[in-house]
Amino acid sequence: MKLIIQKNYDLMCEWAANHIIDAINSHKEKRPFVLGLPTGSSPLGVYKRFIIANKAGKVSFKNVVTFNMDEYVGLPRKHDQSYWYFMHENLFKHIDIPAENINILDGMAADLEEECANYEKKIASYGGIDLFLGGCGVDGHIAFNEPFTSLNSRTGIRDLTEDTRIVNSRFFGNDPTKVPAKALSVGVGTVTDSKVVLLLISGHNKARALKECVEGGVNQMWTISALNLHNDAIIACDETACGELQVNTYKYFRDIFKSERL
Ligand code: GLP
Repeated sequence: MKLIIQKNYDLMCEWAANHIIDAINSHKEKRPFVLGLPTGSSPLGVYKRFIIANKAGKVSFKNVVTFNMDEYVGLPRKHDQSYWYFMHENLFKHIDIPAENINILDGMAADLEEECANYEKKIASYGGIDLFLGGCGVDGHIAFNEPFTSLNSRTGIRDLTEDTRIVNSRFFGNDPTKVPAKALSVGVGTVTDSKVVLLLISGHNKARALKECVEGGVNQMWTISALNLHNDAIIACDETACGELQVNTYKYFRDIFKSERL
């Protein structure tokens, strides 16, 4: 696993956006480039750069198919905290992606299990995901795969922990009871089946998750740690997220990936 340490949030986003834009532009096959995407505050700087690059003609999303990581159960698309709404407001409505190329789990589906099974089938029908961009929760969850979710898990229904509902209540008037208790989420295995996984980790509140992932070994308490078993996994982080790393770990990654530093 690579750990690319950038000085601050903006440079982390710039590096990640450039990396993904390069991957899209160097994809010469006729089949679409399949991109997994997250919500949350972490990817916002990347999405802003996608929009700028798209408007400047430096990248096109016409041959990109997207699969979002997760969605709350019970929120209609037009709810301003649904992930469907978030993605359209912050990315899709500003770029040239065809609407039929956008895939987001439907948390209002009549049969949620069928919705999840069909999502996996649809990903497989494209030949899998080329690059999955993600963030991580304070407790090290990826997508909505809370601690103790199987590291082989597939897309399914997830119960959210009290901790996650408290963290996410900042978007629901600071009232954790207003945060849906369930979500649909791709599995840890769905993410790690992607050819490339690129996670963004920024800020003090993610420092423990980064430490557990990089230094703690693979374990089900920190589902992000599954990345260690992936052949092409990258974490792009900022300096503040490195606050809990051992000095030697920090120096090691700073040294071996210094050519990547912006
Ligand atoms: C939610 C999402 C995750 C995301 C996490 C972190 O829990 N389900 O996919 O990574 O939030 O969000 P943020 O980037 O706002 O810290």
